[in-house]
Amino acid sequence: MWWQDAVVYQIYPRSFQDSDGDGVGDLRGIGRRLDHLTYLGVDAFWLSPIYPSPLADFGYDISNYTAVDPAFGTLGDLDELVAHAHERGLRVLLDLVPSHTSIEHPWFREHPDWYIWSPVDGPPNNWKAAFGGGAWSRDEQTGRWYLHTFYPEQPDLDWRNPEVVAAMQEVVRFWLRRGVDGFRVDAVNVLVKDAELRDDPPATETFPLPLVGESAELEHVYSADRPEVVDALAAIREAAGDALLVGEVYLPATRSARYLTQLDLVFAFELLFSPWEAEALRAAIGAAAELGRVAWVLSNHDFERLATRVGPENVRAAAVLLLTLPGAAFVYQGDEIGLPNGPGADPPYDRAGRDPLRHPMQWDASPAGGFTTGDPWLPPIDPAERNVEAQRGDPGSLLELYRTLIALRRGLGDGFRLVDAEPGVVAFERGGHTVAVNTTAEPRLAPAGELVLATHEGEGLPPHAALIMRN
Ligand code: NOJ
Repeated sequence: MWWQDAVVYQIYPRSFQDSDGDGVGDLRGIGRRLDHLTYLGVDAFWLSPIYPSPLADFGYDISNYTAVDPAFGTLGDLDELVAHAHERGLRVLLDLVPSHTSIEHPWFREHPDWYIWSPVDGPPNNWKAAFGGGAWSRDEQTGRWYLHTFYPEQPDLDWRNPEVVAAMQEVVRFWLRRGVDGFRVDAVNVLVKDAELRDDPPATETFPLPLVGESAELEHVYSADRPEVVDALAAIREAAGDALLVGEVYLPATRSARYLTQLDLVFAFELLFSPWEAEALRAAIGAAAELGRVAWVLSNHDFERLATRVGPENVRAAAVLLLTLPGAAFVYQGDEIGLPNGPGADPPYDRAGRDPLRHPMQWDASPAGGFTTGDPWLPPIDPAERNVEAQRGDPGSLLELYRTLIALRRGLGDGFRLVDAEPGVVAFERGGHTVAVNTTAEPRLAPAGELVLATHEGEGLPPHAALIMRN
């Protein structure tokens, strides 16, 4: 399978490259920048949603599943992008958002029975929305209450209705016919809810991944993670054939196995949220590695950027970790040049506070960073100090480290075993290699062997450094 050890590059289309000067990235812009992806050596890219959307959740509230938002271009532009990507050996993943539509999707009025409604005049249970507040809202037009796991503008589809299943299968087929190679599937663990809409019980222990507000006080056993989700995913799999399906399963690895009966990969979210400390990283890696088919990920458009979360001093070691773990790895645009969180917009576009993670790519040192000739929807953060052009060809740059690691990772060999190491060091063996990552500000001893790659110069395993050794 091509994806088994693939590196997938996440493109946030609004912020990658603008081609028409309106300050918003678009598909033609992405086409112009494919060189960057082939230079890095990645195998595929994932486009966050490109469909028409009223932008309550920036594309994750979809009002037409089988069209391209005019801000991004046309279906023809998408076809062209897919063709150009394939010519270069790059595969294309789209974002499939099956659990909810935009409230402005025509389905909401034409097929109200495709959605989940309260049987009473008010919320029928205690379920909470992921971004805060209750999960039920009153539809002003009909006076009935509908379920929304995310924003009120995102009503949840009822996957117990066979018409919903058939409609979404048709969406999958539509894009596959256009040549895409797979999907990142959004919010998989909340796809199916309890048929009886039972109350979620109070949480008895802290959920291992971050939850917002009151949602953290409940154990999501009825509003999410239903065993029947496997049937829904089987229907998606049936339509997808052997296209890649990567699930956003927002659960610890120990609870994700059933999703892998239908999906190829699930994101290893415990790694994304792990503090940059050896013990926590080892635990996150161990659990996910045991699960097998995981997509390693250290940041995306929803959570703090990698450079901000681990600190700029650790971005080189983080790159080594991400790209040497066994299996597929996802890189969020900008992480390869060390882009930190930005200031966001005032007033914010995203009510959940995610603007800072979505600033434009910085291609060159010009004020707009080469992203647009117009007024960017979010300003570039620091293009003069940090950009692709300056890092390209500079052997000491983070970009070149990513490139080297991507070229090197296939040769690391099979097998995986976490090995004992000094305090503050994460170490593991792969094939005939040892990887050691020093999470501390103190020097540590280097593992034995012949040096293959070092993130820092110096004796042993310098502070914040990583090494790859051949045993
Ligand atoms: C996960 C997506 O990554 C996020 O951006 C979105 O807000 C929610 N799912 C709801 O679709």
